[in-house]
Amino acid sequence: MRTTAKIDELDIYVWEGKADIVDRVARCMASFDVEVIRADDIAISPERTALRPSLAIISVSVIDSGALILRDWQAAHGMPVVWVGAAPRDHDPAMYPSEYSHILPLDFTCAELRGMVTKLVLQLRAHTAQTLESSALVANSECMQALLHEVDTFADCDTSVLVHGETGVGKERIAQLLHEKHRRYGQGPFVPVNCGAIPDGLFESLFFGHSKGSFTGAVVAHKGYFEQADGGTLFLDEIGDLPLYQQVKLLRVLEDSAVTRIGSAAPVKLDFRLVAATNKHLPQLVKDGAFRADLYYRLAVIELKIPSLEERGAVDKIAIFKSFIASVVGPERLVTLPDIPYWLADAVADTYFPGNVRELRNLAERIGVTVRQIGAWDAARLHRLLALARSNQPVPAESAAEVLVDRSKWDMAERSRVLAALDANGWRRQDTAGTLGISRKVLWEKMRKYQIFDEEPETRESE
Ligand SMILES: Nc1ncnc2c1ncn2[C@@H]1O[C@H](COP(=O)(O)OP(=O)(O)OP(=O)(O)O)[C@@H](O)[C@H]1O
Ligand SMILES: [Mg+2]
Repeated sequence: MRTTAKIDELDIYVWEGKADIVDRVARCMASFDVEVIRADDIAISPERTALRPSLAIISVSVIDSGALILRDWQAAHGMPVVWVGAAPRDHDPAMYPSEYSHILPLDFTCAELRGMVTKLVLQLRAHTAQTLESSALVANSECMQALLHEVDTFADCDTSVLVHGETGVGKERIAQLLHEKHRRYGQGPFVPVNCGAIPDGLFESLFFGHSKGSFTGAVVAHKGYFEQADGGTLFLDEIGDLPLYQQVKLLRVLEDSAVTRIGSAAPVKLDFRLVAATNKHLPQLVKDGAFRADLYYRLAVIELKIPSLEERGAVDKIAIFKSFIASVVGPERLVTLPDIPYWLADAVADTYFPGNVRELRNLAERIGVTVRQIGAWDAARLHRLLALARSNQPVPAESAAEVLVDRSKWDMAERSRVLAALDANGWRRQDTAGTLGISRKVLWEKMRKYQIFDEEPETRESE
């Protein structure tokens, strides 16, 4: 995926013991957006480590002094550790057990430290991105079910598809699905190209490729995106950002189904499926003269609109949230936790996410890390993370009506869940609350809200 190799927004906790390394670490990292925190005497805040990627640099002198056990540290804080050895240069890494895989000598140089930190940051990001990207596609709402039905209907056509929808709704996920479901092209490559990021003057070289020796520096032949996608799918993301002069060139290739590499006279015949995506309103761009009408009609043979998260409603919000939480917390830790509490699922359903699934994913990631580290659904901490996610976003007027419809569906579903749990527990409130993973007080509030009455004497409420 698209990862950057930058070290930024990182907290480094340094536990120096007798080694005197905090100032050296701070000096070496001074040119990055990194906070270096002396960790020897402080309690590390799980909220902060949930919000920013963190790693630790620990002197082995801390272990020698008996103040720290590696496994305890990692279990408590879940962050990677760089160890700083007891001796200058000539220490023998074989002396360390295999779990000490990131070791620097006591007299480490800035280049060595930065190299190690960069490697760990990349691993950290790749790991999170990979677990989240591989989580299942959630589509429980009616509108998403309808969309998947359309995907199934059109996946096997050879014609172009235009996928549109707000930012972060999952346009690329759907493009990938269209690719995988095509009997023939699905066996070939999926080549994603961000049309908003093509540097001026490089369009031809990137899209058409070049033959060997076609210009100074062209020492080997290079396949362009069109050729790379031959036999598979070319995914043109952010197509609305393609400048007009590049649109003409794209159109010509689509009409001829052939490209000619720069420096070559022979056109190469190509066979690929084109899927384009945009969060812009292309018909409006056509009206404004910013997008060619002929290209628009060629791309939008089939149009798929991805619903926003707000349109999908609580049922999808909660399912997506739960699925991301499960990926972040991990299966071993998840089984030791009670189910996601109702108040949290409710709060997620009530939050408006203008950045759609991606924004919900970010919130789930923060909450997941916090829960993993403290091993509980800590209401006070999680409310603060929720408040942070909600701080800048009023619900837009136009979707308010749909939100209300979704809310009442969600309420009905919740009422049934509460009733079923009461029945299953013979209407004993203590047991029902346990089954639902909520307190008796919250159960009581829900029963009042949904007008659920029973024969249980009022006195038992205050047991
Ligand atoms: N239905 C879904 N279920 C689970 N995860 C999803 C779903 N849709 C999208 N995602 C996840 O949400 C994130 C954003 O999806 P994606 O990149 O496909 O959105 P996009 O519409 O292309 O975003 P942008 O407008 O920023 O280009 C990804 O991590 C993706 O895996
Ligand atoms: Mg995208």
